[in-house]
Amino acid sequence: MKPVGAITRGTTNPNRLRRVDNYIAYRCGALLTGTAAPLVIDLGYGATPVTAVELRGRLAAAVRPDVTVVGLEIDPVRVAAALPYADPPRLEFRRGGFELAGLSPVVVRAFNVLRQYEEDGVAAAWRQMTGTGALLVEGTCDELGRIATWAVVEAGVPSTLTLSARLPVLEHPSVFAERLPKALIHHNVPGHPVHELLSALGRAWDTEATPFGPRQRWLATVRRLRAEGRAVLDGPARWRLGELTVPWPVQP
Ligand SMILES: C[S@@+](CC[C@H](N)C(=O)[O-])C[C@H]1O[C@@H](n2cnc3c(N)ncnc32)[C@H](O)[C@@H]1O
Repeated sequence: MKPVGAITRGTTNPNRLRRVDNYIAYRCGALLTGTAAPLVIDLGYGATPVTAVELRGRLAAAVRPDVTVVGLEIDPVRVAAALPYADPPRLEFRRGGFELAGLSPVVVRAFNVLRQYEEDGVAAAWRQMTGTGALLVEGTCDELGRIATWAVVEAGVPSTLTLSARLPVLEHPSVFAERLPKALIHHNVPGHPVHELLSALGRAWDTEATPFGPRQRWLATVRRLRAEGRAVLDGPARWRLGELTVPWPVQP
């Protein structure tokens, strides 16, 4: 089976995907515990397999110890480099692309992969990665994982958009603009819903300046968005982590 896709830059970092790992444990926990032998694919783990190793460790601790993670990479050199870190049968590394090497996972994570593709390739990649029924978490973050955004995609269709920041170092929510998923980043212009969302988020953040620190400020910001009538998902337990999840299509 020929891997579908193209080799791209392999930049990664330890702990870079901590925020999305935590979200996957929350969002996909029931899915993973309700499956007899749950398989999670980390697609495009990069120059080192560190984020796949961490994903397996975090899901094993937070969801169930017998979860299996397979790291797929389209670059055979990166697959060979990862093999010493395999811990079969619960952590393996293989060559593969958007076709998922013929595997049938429950969850696929693809982080900082589609950002290096053209936007017109996104829909097909989403369809292919969810074609056997997997829930896909697809997104982008900065090099240290302090600013991240991701979509949940099911049956090729995005259902939610999450913005997530390490609050102690968040200067302003406008920083999300340069880390949006590929499907949205070129639509962040006046008149488009994602631009309206980021503008409303920025205004709320400016209004909610408080002496009680960034966490309280973020909580107040998210509450203000909801009070303004925006559909804001989840609740304070997620918001206090620096997350904001909204339905996709994003409301104007
Ligand atoms: C920037 S790295 C991301 C590493 C890690 N996921 C992270 O976020 O830190 C992107 C990796 O995706 C791989 N890649 C690109 N397209 C792919 C595809 N279709 N299937 C599998 N891997 C792919 C590239 O070879 C590269 O190693």
